[in-house]
Amino acid sequence: MSERIYLDNQSTTRVDPRVIEAMLPYLSEHYGNAGSITHPFGTEAAEAVERATATISGLLGVQANEIVFTSGATESNNLALLGAAAYHTRRRKKEAGHIVSVATEHRAVLDPLAELAKDGWKVTLVPVAGQASPDAGRIDIAALEAALRDETSLVSVMLANNEIGVIQPLEQIAGLCKSRNILLHTDAAQAVGKMPLDIKMLGIDLVSFSGHKLYGPRGVGVLVTRRQRGKAPITAQLFGGRHQRGLRSGTLNVPGIVGLARAMELANEELSTETSRLDRLRNRLFGGLQEQIEGVVLNGPPLGDPSMRLAGNLNVQFRYVDGESLMLSTGGQVALSAGSACTAAEPAPSHVLKALGLNDDAVRSSLRFGLGRFTTESEIDATIKILAESVKRLRAMSSMTGQ
Ligand SMILES: Cc1ncc(COP(=O)(O)O)c(C=O)c1O
Repeated sequence: MSERIYLDNQSTTRVDPRVIEAMLPYLSEHYGNAGSITHPFGTEAAEAVERATATISGLLGVQANEIVFTSGATESNNLALLGAAAYHTRRRKKEAGHIVSVATEHRAVLDPLAELAKDGWKVTLVPVAGQASPDAGRIDIAALEAALRDETSLVSVMLANNEIGVIQPLEQIAGLCKSRNILLHTDAAQAVGKMPLDIKMLGIDLVSFSGHKLYGPRGVGVLVTRRQRGKAPITAQLFGGRHQRGLRSGTLNVPGIVGLARAMELANEELSTETSRLDRLRNRLFGGLQEQIEGVVLNGPPLGDPSMRLAGNLNVQFRYVDGESLMLSTGGQVALSAGSACTAAEPAPSHVLKALGLNDDAVRSSLRFGLGRFTTESEIDATIKILAESVKRLRAMSSMTGQ
């Protein structure tokens, strides 16, 4: 088989060699526990965490003591949502309140919300604009505003969607939340390192993200918790050694944290050139697929406007072809995803595409292409060719079998 082509960068990314280089000393000679500051092994590790924290907080426009390291965006989302809910009930000595979120959120938000609903929290999921709209996938601000109630204590809206790349208008949402004194959380797992993000300027209270989406290591993430009257507005969900101001106990993943900081530095340095490169490659891919294959239809917002859609994301329907069969028929030459690979443990039709109003056939015929830092033009051209041949073969087979 010829070289494999990796186009699943919304699922995870290859660790950049420059990130590995930064991490290696903390896996070998500097192996101390950052909590053991009674000896130089520990203080070296603690200093590395301090430097990494300063880099990360500086790039996001927040204070160092507003960064909480976690194991990834799933944990960050759980800590943000369950932690803010617990803080609310304890602090206000109140019953469960009301949370507003969006139908197209990742399972790592929807599932903790479902858990809160079991404890009596009311959860409203706001719909998104349908596929026919030029704003396909974006939430309707008026609907969000209408969903807010006196007892709403939290709003959670992802910044960029992992399936269709749509970018939500967080600044407007933050304005609405601020004027009503409601906490705002965003799952920025797909956005950090891919678009400019100044959390303080935007006015977001809680921000989740993960190292492995931005060419950093897997198993490390961050929850940014902006302070309110000197306090993080969440209650811890893991208890133990009282690390990280008691907000998340557990020995720090020093190599992971160092790698995450380096990955963020690199993403920041290369942001504008990389965004235009990916935008051009993604448009070349879509143009080529449309030219070579009949019945190729775009899912999600229009291409070409970086304020609407992540540059490296493409999601398309191949009419009358089953997406899973299409992936298989490439013989593993192109790594793609049908829907969200992050929920691969439970293969169900994409709730994101359904929220756009797509019918079951359209959802089943859809594939996600995630382009990334290591994607080349020749890989894009090869992908177009491989898919064109595969679609032709599958369509010929289904016309023979009459399916
Ligand atoms: C938007 C979004 N949120 C959360 C996650 C979960 O992140 P992690 O794998 O770091 O737990 C992912 C991907 O897996 C994602 O795309």
